[in-house]
Amino acid sequence: MRKAGVIVSSDACFNGQREDKSGKAIKEVLENNGYEVKYFSIVPDDFTALVNAMNICVACEIPLCLTTGGTGFSPRDITPEATRAVIEREAPGIAEAIWQESVKITPRAMLSRAVSGIKNKTLIINLPGSEKAVREALDVILAPLEHGLDILLGESGNCAR
Ligand code: MTE
Repeated sequence: MRKAGVIVSSDACFNGQREDKSGKAIKEVLENNGYEVKYFSIVPDDFTALVNAMNICVACEIPLCLTTGGTGFSPRDITPEATRAVIEREAPGIAEAIWQESVKITPRAMLSRAVSGIKNKTLIINLPGSEKAVREALDVILAPLEHGLDILLGESGNCAR
């Protein structure tokens, strides 16, 4: 079973003012797709808190780290900047594929500033903060990710499949 981490970036959820729905939805979808969620954390929209949480996933060699929230235009939205500070190699096609499919559902998808990239053996992908958005995005990426994670972990050497 492949391991995954989920990080919820939300001041309101961190302070208990709002129930986390998007993180729970990610966990549910991952578990239904053969992942074991080894790390789950709700952090405020704070650069250092986000960097620290992502670096825990990296240190624990969790191959897939999904963040939710903090990708929009609010002054507190800082997830893409924190992610860029952590990753060593960009994997922009993942964020782009999410945009491409999501704008067909809602033009507002263009308002997400999400990024995706790799540090060591961990692929970090930003998802928006709504339950609807994470379900739509996971629908796009989960199948091709299997192959990507195989390659990241050295379990597959070519793209013949
Ligand atoms: N992507 C999908 N697939 N579906 C959505 O409903 N909502 C958008 C966008 N991406 C949406 C989406 C909206 S309304 C916003 S403001 C941005 O994600 C940023 O969301 P965030 O600040 O919660 O990360």
